[in-house]
Amino acid sequence: MIDAIVEYQGQIESFPVRSEVAPGYLRLRLPESPPEKPETLDSVLSDVKKHILPGLTHWQHPSFFAWFPAHTSSPALFADMLSNALGIIGFSWISSPAATELETIVMDWVAQLFDLPAVFRSSGGKGGGVIEGTASESCLCAMLAAKARILHQKPHTDPLKLVAYTSDQAHSCVKKACMVAGVQHFRLVPTSAEHAWSLQAAALERQIALDLKEGLIPFFVSATLGTTSSCAVDDIPRIADVAKDRGLWLHVDSAYAGVFAALPELRDNFKGLDKADSFCTNLHKSMLVTFDCVAMTQGFAELVEADERFELAAPPAFGLVCFRRKGDDNAASAAFLEAINATGRAFMVHTVLGGKHVLRMAAGSANQQWHHLEGLWKLVVEVANAERGECAKRQRAEDS
Ligand SMILES: Cc1ncc(COP(=O)(O)O)c(C=O)c1O
Repeated sequence: MIDAIVEYQGQIESFPVRSEVAPGYLRLRLPESPPEKPETLDSVLSDVKKHILPGLTHWQHPSFFAWFPAHTSSPALFADMLSNALGIIGFSWISSPAATELETIVMDWVAQLFDLPAVFRSSGGKGGGVIEGTASESCLCAMLAAKARILHQKPHTDPLKLVAYTSDQAHSCVKKACMVAGVQHFRLVPTSAEHAWSLQAAALERQIALDLKEGLIPFFVSATLGTTSSCAVDDIPRIADVAKDRGLWLHVDSAYAGVFAALPELRDNFKGLDKADSFCTNLHKSMLVTFDCVAMTQGFAELVEADERFELAAPPAFGLVCFRRKGDDNAASAAFLEAINATGRAFMVHTVLGGKHVLRMAAGSANQQWHHLEGLWKLVVEVANAERGECAKRQRAEDS
């Protein structure tokens, strides 16, 4: 098994980054019923090679620039092996004291590493950190806690009148949390290019005032520190003041960007957390960048800006660069992105900013180096040149 893992990692750059299979491919290749006889590990691994690897999008490929990175590493592999072998279930302290205590201690280390306010440590008197499965789960937990708090503080509150707020750039997990938590009123407060897509306290206050007029009960706001679209940072210090004045629970969703708090030079982005009720980050997203990810982002943004056919669509932030080809309508931009991804040499996804389709380059996969970003830019230019060549050919054919 270890040999197979090492072989995969050694060959990862030989695979197309994005899987090329068609939907439903696997059912056509596997038997309809479960096997009746055991098979050797070699035969299972051979099936994995033949049938599973082609159906993978290779998140650990150094030319993976899609969504956000999700790292694995040798220590993580070994930790998974060990924890699977131990097979511990830690639902209460006595079900496995070491599990509970290790979680608390490691969460305190993380809070220390990120210089989080004392309230986020177990010694802070109000709890400290916990490990959740995902950032989405964490948002749901925060919302349920907020609902419990307001219903406890004001027992006559009608739960059907509760309102939750976030920005129009927030991750869909906030809306999903409302659906699961039975929160019927959900507001996506608008942002604009003028404020680099970050949620402003004044816009939040305006929406709250409208809802109060309708007799609704604002109770929860999720501010994002590093939005999924463009890594925008909401105005957390002022939003925290609004939340405090109005008695709202403030959740800070920093699923991707949170770990950048480990860097003192980026700590200015993390002001106002002392007034937040909950803060979430995903350690697997960008904890393991091996190269100076912020410098790489800057370098890539400079390549974009130096080519007059392209423009940045938002200020580059943390490891993310949003850019587009000038003059492309949304369909042309989507076709351009698909032409890049179809080469199998790199993989990016898009976002929409101010109604415009935008290419989104998320740097930081664990074994990525500057030459992989240069390679991506070379590919972008190659595809743009090829399209320009095709256009010129078509024009000549029409003219003749
Ligand atoms: C800001 C933000 N919040 C939440 C999420 C959802 O994360 P998860 O997949 O851990 O639920 C993401 C995912 O990229 C994100 O960027």
